[in-house]
Amino acid sequence: MAKAKVAVLISGRGSNMAALLYAAKAADCPYEIVLVAANDPDAAGLTLAAAEGIPTFGQSHKGLKRVEFDRIIDAQLRASGAQYVALAGYMRLLSAEFVTGWEDRMLNIHPSLLPKYKGLDTHQRAIDAGDSHAGCSVHIVTAELDDGPVLGQTPVAILPGDTQDSLAARILIAEHQLYSRTLADFVTRERHPDWLLNKVREAALALPQADEVVSHGMPCFGIEKGKKFAYFTRDHHGDGIIALLVKTTAPDEQAMLIESDPARYYRPAYFGDNWVGIRLDLGDTDWDHIADRLRASWRDIAPRKLLGLMNIADQF
Ligand code: GRF
Repeated sequence: MAKAKVAVLISGRGSNMAALLYAAKAADCPYEIVLVAANDPDAAGLTLAAAEGIPTFGQSHKGLKRVEFDRIIDAQLRASGAQYVALAGYMRLLSAEFVTGWEDRMLNIHPSLLPKYKGLDTHQRAIDAGDSHAGCSVHIVTAELDDGPVLGQTPVAILPGDTQDSLAARILIAEHQLYSRTLADFVTRERHPDWLLNKVREAALALPQADEVVSHGMPCFGIEKGKKFAYFTRDHHGDGIIALLVKTTAPDEQAMLIESDPARYYRPAYFGDNWVGIRLDLGDTDWDHIADRLRASWRDIAPRKLLGLMNIADQF
């Protein structure tokens, strides 16, 4: 299986970036680092990454509007082929446009047990509050600072006499362990059949009067008491493939899709020419596209009355 491509954004020391980079050297690590970028061309982490043979990019944000600078970084990320972004001590607030462009693909590490102590001075705040434990969290980045869903946490005991520096140094050890492991789980979750089925289910069951049943051992989605518009196939007949089968909506569409992207689309055995298989296990599924295909397939089998309702709903 190809490794997921990850870009890391830093602002300074870059010790978390280094932890990610060295973990990625293990043969069984599911991700590789394709770019390290910083908003400071002198960031120490850039020197380390370059010495390890990783492409780097450093440019100061000074004098640029937030959105302008983010576009420059975004262009670098896209050019590197990154599929995911890991923020590692990247001391920049991000524009909404940038966050949206990497929705569900960008992680951050934060030195507190979120939701406690968002923002800065996390270590001192934990000590001042008399907490027994501080720690670190890896979370998905959303528009709100340090606020997205938490993917993993490590509590770190606060010792008598701890200063913010002594505590920060110990938490950093935990950070280095946590980030790589959490990132590895995150980039592989999209290959787990249960996760994929849930994504399909969410989109399919959002359609009017849709229901889920099992047919020929496959979870499938239809209109209540009506026809089926989608099948989820996982290693069917031992083919090793995880895919969605949906109806095509125009003559020759199956052939056209397969020709346009033969690694992704295929002719599902026993389904004929009016269905197409879309691989979900390639690691780069466009879920908006999947939702569109499900909707189109639903339309194809929906009874007239229901279709009329959908058309009215579409106008709003
Ligand atoms: C880490 O404590 C991290 O949790 C926070 O910024 C610090 C970055 O350190 N977001 P480094 O640059 O990774 O060494």
